[in-house]
Amino acid sequence: MTSRYRLGKAGLVTGAGSGIGRAAAIELARQGADVTVTDIDEPSAAVTAEMIRKGGGEALVLRVDIVDEDAVRTAVERTVETYGGLDFAVNNAGLDSHHQQLDRMSLEEFERVAHVNMGGTFLCMKYELPALESRGGGAIVNVASNGGLYAIPTAPAYVAAKHGVVGLTKTAAVDYAPRGVRVNAVCPGPTRTPGFERVAAGTDLIAMQEAITPLGRMATPEEAAAATVWLCSDAASYITGIALSVDGGRRA
Ligand SMILES: NC(=O)c1ccc[n+]([C@@H]2O[C@H](COP(=O)([O-])OP(=O)(O)OC[C@H]3O[C@@H](n4cnc5c(N)ncnc54)[C@H](O)[C@@H]3O)[C@@H](O)[C@H]2O)c1
Repeated sequence: MTSRYRLGKAGLVTGAGSGIGRAAAIELARQGADVTVTDIDEPSAAVTAEMIRKGGGEALVLRVDIVDEDAVRTAVERTVETYGGLDFAVNNAGLDSHHQQLDRMSLEEFERVAHVNMGGTFLCMKYELPALESRGGGAIVNVASNGGLYAIPTAPAYVAAKHGVVGLTKTAAVDYAPRGVRVNAVCPGPTRTPGFERVAAGTDLIAMQEAITPLGRMATPEEAAAATVWLCSDAASYITGIALSVDGGRRA
């Protein structure tokens, strides 16, 4: 089946039921892509798909836990069957860790955070890369974090896992560039998503983040998603292997 939308592109987004993933899926569809909207929380993914359809777009909803290899493989296969191929993938699903210094963190907590953020991204790429290659090329964008580029105090597992996501991104960028597949990472700074709001509830975390960000505020999910969508698009056709900060100037 071919796409009925103007760009003729199709792809999938993980963790698309909330925050940055939802905003990316909606914007990709608004720009004409057919989108497979996946999340471990299927009802949330269905809400995103409904938002896409209300805007005139097309979306397929699948429940996908990114550490479930069968579910990830099926999501790629179903996208190819439904839309005729895979042109892009946004590997956005991830989670924060309990904030603790390293000597207080259990191995279980370290492994939980690494398993989802790094292992899940690995599994998605494992099935997306051959599908993109067989389409003749395409783009992967992994949503890492500024914690993939430098330390966040009391977040050793998250920072290690997100550095791992950046490492996976760079290695795949080099290995798959000859086959026409671009692989990049977006590294958001603190972004006002439902996930962040939950962590910040009852604390002064948001005011503290605003105070230490040169632009004086946190990002919206749409701002983080915009960089993601751009890296998926042909406008970024000569860009591969980068880890792009979207952080209001924090890295500077
Ligand atoms: N919000 C921030 O400040 C911030 C900053 C840097 C990086 N990030 C990264 O951005 C990404 C999205 O974060 P967000 O703030 O939008 O989060 P969010 O909590 O608002 O949304 C995350 C979505 O991912 C889904 N999810 C969680 N585990 C999953 C799994 N195993 N399989 C499939 N889906 C799963 C959740 O159900 C949820 O819908 C994450 O990778 C996060 O680490 C966020």
